[in-house]
Amino acid sequence: MGEDPRPPPAGRDGAEGWFVTGYFTERGAAEIADTTRTVALVSLVGLLAASTAAWWVAGSILTPVRLVRQAAAEITEEDLTRRIEVSGRDDIAALAEQFNHMLDRLEGAFLDQRRFLDDAGHELRTPITIVRGHLELMGDDPGERREVVRLVTDELDRMARIVEELLLLAKVQRPDFLRAEEVSLAELTSDIDAKARQLGDRDWRLESVAEGTAALDPQRVTQAVVQLAANAVRHTGPGATLRVGSSVSGPDVLFWVSDHGPGIPPEEHGRIFERFARGGSARADRGSGLGLAIVRAIAEAHHGRVDLRSAPGAGSTFTLVIPLGREHV
Ligand SMILES: Nc1ncnc2c1ncn2[C@@H]1O[C@H](COP(=O)(O)OP(=O)(O)OP(=O)(O)O)[C@@H](O)[C@H]1O
Ligand SMILES: [Mg+2]
Repeated sequence: MGEDPRPPPAGRDGAEGWFVTGYFTERGAAEIADTTRTVALVSLVGLLAASTAAWWVAGSILTPVRLVRQAAAEITEEDLTRRIEVSGRDDIAALAEQFNHMLDRLEGAFLDQRRFLDDAGHELRTPITIVRGHLELMGDDPGERREVVRLVTDELDRMARIVEELLLLAKVQRPDFLRAEEVSLAELTSDIDAKARQLGDRDWRLESVAEGTAALDPQRVTQAVVQLAANAVRHTGPGATLRVGSSVSGPDVLFWVSDHGPGIPPEEHGRIFERFARGGSARADRGSGLGLAIVRAIAEAHHGRVDLRSAPGAGSTFTLVIPLGREHV
């Protein structure tokens, strides 16, 4: 309260005076300061608590993300074995799991590719060694030279075939591997039968012909069945009865080649479809062992499979099973 320098005003009856009111502000100011301090303190503590909680939550969310990032940074083409530890069942755990699955697939693909190259290198080394051996030992005699040229040409043809088949197998994963179209099954079967007959002097029988149409790549299917027919020829003698045929069975179309050859023991049924796998009976005649791998690849590209019914002494029937469904084209 300041002092007013003016004289007090005169009243109606001439009396002079001041009517003074006043209040003490200190107590109020102290209360306001107190409240402000409390509010500030509470806000500060709240802010600190909220920040700590946010930091903790963000940390616990980001730790797995950081792990994913670290794992991704540490993965190289040479070492695809690293995986992220998955804990909990939240979105981040799902992300880590997906990441691990992706790595599984990548690792599988790389291993496959490496095995493919190893196999190819190994298989191609043999004919190269043979060719080199023949050429190094070749004498001057014209008759001997002719024979060496024949053997070397034979080996080079074999090599060329292996390379061609390997290129085909490498192409299988590509989306343009199949050129599917709506095909008349009767026409396709008759084409396959005609081509199979060219493979060797056998008693060929066209057992049954499917009716209707299917969406498939006629050239690849022909290639597959002709491979099966070539195997049947290879494992039988002149004049042996070989049956080919096609039929529609439920949702699938079947193409088969059947022989009365030596048959295949059950323990080899899975293995012979692998790349470069030759069965016990065929080691001597030096097939490349890629035929059935190609047949299986063609079937799988059509979302189908190859069935084998065979036993030693009872002949073999290989059946290409291809879904008629149009969804895969
Ligand atoms: N019809 C068959 N009868 C008996 N064995 C067979 C028959 N078809 C295939 N096999 C066995 O399966 C193996 C693999 O066949 P695949 O066609 O993959 O290779 P390949 O015929 O030896 O060589 P390629 O076909 O590349 O010239 C053969 O080595 C043979 O042992
Ligand atoms: Mg073959």
